[in-house]
Amino acid sequence: MSALNKKNILLGVCGGIAAYKSAILARRLIDAGAQVRVVMTSGAQAFVQPMTFQALTGNPVHTSLLDTEAEAAMGHIELARWADIILIAPATANTLARLAHGFADDLLSTVCLASEAPLFIAPAMNRLMWAHAATLSNCKTLNDRGASFIGPAEGIQACGETGAGRLLEPEDIRDQLATLLQSNAAITTSNEQTTQTLAGKHVLVTAGPTREAIDPVRYISNHSSGKMGFAIAEAAVSMGARVTLVAGPVSLSASDTIQRIDVVSAEQMLDAVMQVAGNCDVFISVAAVSDYRLEEIKEQKIKKNDEQMQLTLIKNPDILKQVSSREDRPFCVGFAAETENVEAHARGKLVRKQLDMIAANQVAQPDNPVFGSDTNALDVYWPANDGHQAIPASSKTHVAQALLTIIASQLGKKPEGSQG
Ligand code: C5P
Repeated sequence: MSALNKKNILLGVCGGIAAYKSAILARRLIDAGAQVRVVMTSGAQAFVQPMTFQALTGNPVHTSLLDTEAEAAMGHIELARWADIILIAPATANTLARLAHGFADDLLSTVCLASEAPLFIAPAMNRLMWAHAATLSNCKTLNDRGASFIGPAEGIQACGETGAGRLLEPEDIRDQLATLLQSNAAITTSNEQTTQTLAGKHVLVTAGPTREAIDPVRYISNHSSGKMGFAIAEAAVSMGARVTLVAGPVSLSASDTIQRIDVVSAEQMLDAVMQVAGNCDVFISVAAVSDYRLEEIKEQKIKKNDEQMQLTLIKNPDILKQVSSREDRPFCVGFAAETENVEAHARGKLVRKQLDMIAANQVAQPDNPVFGSDTNALDVYWPANDGHQAIPASSKTHVAQALLTIIASQLGKKPEGSQG
């Protein structure tokens, strides 16, 4: 069954000659089991008649923000809520710019702002417009916010030039969308929003950095913001789990339903985790625990008298390894923040730390700062059959839901009573 089956897809059509291909795309999406509603910009209507899409989708086509009759039938907020997925094809340079800057002066841009649905963009434009720094920067902005791009293709363009900027063929757009959705298991149909796949489970999550004191005013730490761990804790609650969150020093708040234990150092985090580890079903170790701490914490502030100074560091306990070594171990999930050879390092860690699963992200790409960002992309690995699933770039909330969906499905495959 296609990943598009039963999905509510809002298809945004913009004003480019490639708009004629969107009619075939609408048909292909419906063939794959999706319900499709079309929003056309005014530019799009210069190329294709709304009637074409109405006939193909069986639904009225939405063209105007300020039309009382249309708003009475299905208002723009209702439309935004209806969508499980927003797909814009073709997306013009103009629409990319307006979405990147948060405009809300026509129906399509307003619906995009008002919707939490993941956004997929299939651009189509002249090759120089596509290559222009302004367009590239708008794409990056949208990508950073979690939008996924499908295409464009290279080839002969309607303007007679050859290069990148052609809309992908409708079947390719449909297939790429389905693949992206398959790996992003979190995107649910509107009536699946309350899946309780972790009902009855106790999930323990660590999040944020740890701080290792040097003296009363200084410490060693890292850039972890805690956003990924907090998103996982919240997503676990929404999937029915009881959640304990052990948080390093971060400036984030968590829902009241989450039992939160605040800690500062790695040793404090270990203590807090060990108190809960024997009594939970899943341990997700998202925290960026400092690998080393000071051998000796000075009681008084160190004075800057010497030209050089040396600090002696000793290794911190590996919290995850200690949990996975317990006889009564929960299902253990680690995180790997790698800067190179991501798969090899992540799989190495999976074995060394005796984990059930590991989620790897690349942290050192200059244009993809994971730390502190609101978006992320993961590669998830598990031992059985060299298991692997990619979670494409999306908001940390979506990525968290996708990861927990994978965890829940693997958890279900573990034989009853097996530990590890
Ligand atoms: O070995 P490395 O530090 O790269 O492993 C990362 C994984 O191990 C993460 O899941 C992290 O939360 C966990 N970890 C830990 N205790 C440490 C260091 C890392 O639990 N001291």
